[in-house]
Amino acid sequence: MAIMFRQETFRDDFTYRNSPANIHRFPFPFDRDEYAYSVNIEPHVPGRKGTIYESLIDVDEHYVAEMADRALVLKEDPLRYQALPHMMQAQWDVLELLMEQQAAGYPEHFSLTRNGDRWRWINRPLGIDDTFTFGARETLPYEPLEYIGRQTQGDLCIVDQRDNNLWMDAGLVTTQADWSLDFDVGMNFMEWHGPVPLAHGMGIFDRALKFLLNLQLGQPVRRFNWTMTVNPRLDTSPENYHKWGRDRTTVTPVNVGRKVHLRVELQTLWRLPRSNAMLFVIRCYLMSMEELVTVPKWARRFHRVLKTLPQELVDYKGMTRYRDTTVEWLSRHDDGAPTSPGI
Ligand code: HEM
Repeated sequence: MAIMFRQETFRDDFTYRNSPANIHRFPFPFDRDEYAYSVNIEPHVPGRKGTIYESLIDVDEHYVAEMADRALVLKEDPLRYQALPHMMQAQWDVLELLMEQQAAGYPEHFSLTRNGDRWRWINRPLGIDDTFTFGARETLPYEPLEYIGRQTQGDLCIVDQRDNNLWMDAGLVTTQADWSLDFDVGMNFMEWHGPVPLAHGMGIFDRALKFLLNLQLGQPVRRFNWTMTVNPRLDTSPENYHKWGRDRTTVTPVNVGRKVHLRVELQTLWRLPRSNAMLFVIRCYLMSMEELVTVPKWARRFHRVLKTLPQELVDYKGMTRYRDTTVEWLSRHDDGAPTSPGI
C-alpha cells in the first residue's frame, strides 16, 4: 500500500508528528522496567506486516521530510558526508544494497532495472529517474554513498575491516545523537566508542567487536539504542550544538509532553559483498511524550526506566537538565501495576 508522506519540519516550527498508525509501529525498545547496556544483537530478519521489520530497510511517512532536512544539513555543512579514497568499492556495494532493499520493500515507490552495468533507478516520492553505469562515479551526480544516502532514511557509516578491527572510513551522518563523523572518521571501534560510560568496563565492546568481525554476507544483524531529544530535531550534532543545546533548559511541567521526545535508533549491520566492509545504518525514530502515553503499557514502563536510569547514563545521554521534570510528568501515567517481561 502506498505510504502517505507527511509535510513537516524537524527545525524552526517543528511540525513533525506521528500519525496514530505510525505510533502503533514505533519500535519501543524496553522489555523490562530497568535499562542497562548489553550486547543486544539479534538477526535482522523480516517481521510482521505493519511493523518496522516488514522491510529490512524501513521507509515510513517521514521519508520525504527527512530527505529534505538532510539536504539542508548537507548544504550548510558538506563535511557531514565523508569517504576515504579506499572506500569507493564499498560505496558501490552500499548503493546496490539500499536500492535493492528499497525497491523490494516498496515497489510502488522505488524501482531498479539492470541491463548489465547500465542501471535505471526510479524514486517516485523524490521525483528521481536516473540511469547510470554501476562502478562509474562520473555517471552519478554525487559519490555513490552520498547519492543513495540522500534517498535513504537513517545515517549511514561504512566501516572497513582490517587488523582485527573496524575503521570508520566513510559516512553520511546528519541525524546523529551528539557525535560527529568529522571527528570520528578514520577511528577504530574502540576509539569512537571512547566516550561511552560503563560499557567498556563491562566488556561489552570487546564482545561486540569479536562478534562483528565474523558478520556473514546475507545475514545482517540489528540492535537498538535510545536517547531523548528536546523538540523533534533530527540534527542534534556537536557541529550545531549552539542551535539546540539550550533547548534542554526550556522543558517545563507544562510543555514536557509536547517537547520531550524518545529517540530510538534501529541500528542494522550488513556485510558488503565486494569490499568485505560493513554498512552500519542508524535509523532514528522520534516520539513525543504525549504520543508515547497513548499506549498505557509504554507509559508505565518508560516512567520506570527513566526513574531508575543510572546517573552516568543520564549525564552521557544529555538528559540531566530535564530528566526529573519528565519522570514527574510520566508518573501521572503510571498506576503502579506490575508489568510483564517483553514489550
Ligand atoms: C555509541 C558507532 C556498533 C554499543 C556509539 C557512538 C558511535 C557509535 C559513533 C557515539 C559515541 C560518542 O559518544 O561519541 C558505532 C558503529 C558501530 C557500532 C559505527 C558499528 C560498526 C555498536 C555495537 C554495540 C554498540 C555492535 C553493541 C554493544 C554502543 C553503545 C553506545 C554507542 C552502548 C552508547 C549509546 C548511548 O548510550 O546513547 N556507537 N557503534 N555499538 N555504541 Fe556503537
